[in-house]
Amino acid sequence: MSLARSLLLRASRSPFLAGVLRRRRFVGRAVRRFMPGEELSDALDAARTLSLRGIGTVLTKLGENVTTLAEAEDVARDYGDALARIERAELPTQLSIKLTQLGLDADPGACERAVRALAARTPSGSTLWIDMEDGRYTEATLDLYRRIRADRLDVGVCLQAYLRRTPRDLEALLPLEPAIRLVKGAYAEAPSAAFPKKREVDAAYYALAIRLLERASAGKARPVFGTHDMRLVTRIRARAAEMGVPPRRCEFHMLYGIRERDQLALASAGETVRVLISYGSAWFAWYLRRLAERPANVWFVLKNLV
Ligand code: FDA
Repeated sequence: MSLARSLLLRASRSPFLAGVLRRRRFVGRAVRRFMPGEELSDALDAARTLSLRGIGTVLTKLGENVTTLAEAEDVARDYGDALARIERAELPTQLSIKLTQLGLDADPGACERAVRALAARTPSGSTLWIDMEDGRYTEATLDLYRRIRADRLDVGVCLQAYLRRTPRDLEALLPLEPAIRLVKGAYAEAPSAAFPKKREVDAAYYALAIRLLERASAGKARPVFGTHDMRLVTRIRARAAEMGVPPRRCEFHMLYGIRERDQLALASAGETVRVLISYGSAWFAWYLRRLAERPANVWFVLKNLV
């Protein structure tokens, strides 16, 4: 892992920096590159614009590691409201949640009940996505996903290709005919747990993608490729075509504000494309993870400062 990436990921966990930087106007301006605004209505407006371009969306409210059940209940209520507003607006929009924002640390039982309630309210044909957080939560997230998916609820879970354990995790999930969002992984993990080199992560991603496509071609999995790596996207699309996986059986998801031209080109080529839009005020840790993915982004912030 590069020094810049590791410093940015370490900074993302600092409450002190979060407090200082969140109040700086130039930081707020730079963050707008990756999110349309802090309010749900900002995210819904962006979702409407994207839907007119043939691109679906997934919304997520920023925040993680809430410490009290009351905070977690507020988040669950907000998500319930978001589902109602999405339905009223008839948007092709889904939700993605973080378990630690729904109280996984404070009360795992209450967290599971909240996820079940949101999954039950998710319209049929849509999916409730569960993000994957840092390595301390992998086991608990997969356990919860397995229990909920076993009840045939329409939930999907994110798997991180950088984790050495992920091929095993994927095999264990496959009997559930899962919806899997495959990403590279955004946290700082020890080399014993995660591949430190980009080359290794990319190779792991492709191998996992092929395994998912095999299952998708038999109608036994619904893969989502969450990546902006167009080299990987091109290879995956070529392999999917060779294997006869219909375009509707797998999707490509990207983050708001990143590779917009490629999002449009993929949608025009007949692929199902969704953009993950974040909203909410707790953007500090999330924003630093975006900078860490591409430390060149730091220059963008500095330019704004000047
Ligand atoms: P890679 O980092 O190799 O980037 C490929 C190219 O994309 C770069 O060269 C650059 O051009 C562009 N790019 C990538 N990131 C950029 C950025 N921040 N700014 C500007 N350009 C950028 N992670 C996680 O641990 N848990 C999760 O639940 C999720 N969920 C999730 C959902 C979706 C829809 C996406 C797209 C990503 C996630 N992630 C995630 C984040 C993921 O793990 C990963 O950190 C980023 O997607 C960056 O990796 P890429 O696959 O894009 O490749």
